[in-house]
Amino acid sequence: MFKKVDFLVIGSGIAGLTFASKAAQYGKVLILTKKNKADSNTNYAQGGIAAVFGKDDSIKSHIKDTLNGGEGLGQAKAVEIMVKKGPRLVQELYNMGCRFSLDENGKFELGKEGGHSRRRIVHAKDYTGYEIERVLLEETKKHGVLISENEIALDLIIQNGECSGVYYFDVNTDKINAIIANITILATGGIGQVYAHTTNPPIATGDGIAMAYRAGAKIANMEFVQFHPTSVYNITIDGRSFLISEAIRGEGGILKNKDGKSFMHKYSSAGNLAPRDVVARACVSEMLLSNSKYVLLDISHCKADYLKNRFPTIYETCLRWGIDITREPIPVVPAAHYMCGGILVNTWAESSISRLFALGECSCTGVHGANRLASNSLLEALVFATRAAEKIKSVNDIKISKEIKITKVAKTGPNFKLPIRELMSQYVGVIRTEEELVKACDVIDKFSQKFDDGIQFKNAESRNITDVARLIIESALMRKESRGLHYIKEYPKKKKKFMKDTVIEKKDIGR
Ligand code: FAD
Ligand code: SIN
Repeated sequence: MFKKVDFLVIGSGIAGLTFASKAAQYGKVLILTKKNKADSNTNYAQGGIAAVFGKDDSIKSHIKDTLNGGEGLGQAKAVEIMVKKGPRLVQELYNMGCRFSLDENGKFELGKEGGHSRRRIVHAKDYTGYEIERVLLEETKKHGVLISENEIALDLIIQNGECSGVYYFDVNTDKINAIIANITILATGGIGQVYAHTTNPPIATGDGIAMAYRAGAKIANMEFVQFHPTSVYNITIDGRSFLISEAIRGEGGILKNKDGKSFMHKYSSAGNLAPRDVVARACVSEMLLSNSKYVLLDISHCKADYLKNRFPTIYETCLRWGIDITREPIPVVPAAHYMCGGILVNTWAESSISRLFALGECSCTGVHGANRLASNSLLEALVFATRAAEKIKSVNDIKISKEIKITKVAKTGPNFKLPIRELMSQYVGVIRTEEELVKACDVIDKFSQKFDDGIQFKNAESRNITDVARLIIESALMRKESRGLHYIKEYPKKKKKFMKDTVIEKKDIGR
């Protein structure tokens, strides 16, 4: 017999930890996480968490900015819920001990980032995510939540159309095991590692999205991959490109071409703080125009003491790599950063499969539409994880109709990580063409066929990357227009009559 819990959470970033600490009062919670508990995208978040605290700000304005950013695809109801619930929950994080930066009046010091018409980014200098992760890990401990590290969830267990737990690989014992749960929560984070250049750490291989897809859940809007315009050129730390926060531009940083000429005014009246899709495309275009592998981000006109205090992580990391940001511009390039799509959920984080919830970056609540505004993702995770914990209060016990066994374990497990990541960066990046998408699709399909059916434990991430890559390409081919983060040369404009969400289920594309 396998272990049974009330709530099984996969992932220990902001989404999983928030849910776990709030659900603990209603039943036994177990978190499985595939590496150390702090290994997550959350831990590296720099800029901050957006919420309405400013005197000149309003709920209406944050909603409007978020929907504008989403380019007609944002779900108004979900956006409203997120923005309204945000301030109380951000305040709660502060009350738990999160050391957010304060101004001289003891109020949150508010940063500015692209697409936000007001200063509304609550931050802990440039290590906001580290602070949030630290405090939430303490919070789960206080509530007696068990976190099991080095356990890789492999596939969902589905019986009678319901999710009844997961199969997972225990790295410590080298064995496949299973856990039964009344409710299973996917909080597995992003997909950045599907690309060769990404700000995301190695854990971000889209596992939750791939597992949910294989189990038959609806997956939406996967064409909307956000590329952050400013990761440091040629610097990789522990498998991720080092990010230079948009907050640097919020405090006056200027993008320049390799000859030192600023260029953003040519692309948008919002200049250096235009939405990310616009800035990323502008950087690519300037790199092509000047035949350079990078553009420059210059903040050296600011006072050195201010920069060292406001952006200590960025200052010190760049310095270690020989770049003094107080004196010289930083060479930067766009890198895969955030997935706006994911497992389709309603405003209570319920997926299309009964007893399966999805939270945070692996979910698609509809909040971001075709483009996410900076610092809205930590907020989304916080708000919808809290709602999910309210929803599961009165869940009834799952009935297992037939014995769960670990059968059908795949014999082989090819490792296609590197070629797929290169392929995706080359053909499915910031600027796409239909011809290249089709080419990429053919290659991915060939990779796909090499995986046996059954539970894959050898190179599980390689299969997940393959499935996620396929979902991104399929959605990109479905959208015959350019909108937000999806830019396709054959259809360079938005269409008046356009598809709302691109929704894919397993039956639509085979594997
Ligand atoms: P994560 O924090 O990524 O957590 C996922 C968890 O799932 C991890 O613990 C992982 O190990 C685990 N996991 C994954 N697969 C499995 C598996 N198969 N089995 C078991 N466990 C698994 N957003 C903002 O709003 N503001 C910012 O300032 C900001 N800055 C960012 C800076 C960087 C460098 C990056 C990469 C992202 C940034 N983002 C920011 C985005 C934001 O950090 C993420 O969207 C958010 O942290 C996602 O939280 P999450 O809980 O959904 O996932
Ligand atoms: C950044 O600090 O630029 C990242 C913010 C985000 O992705 O929301």
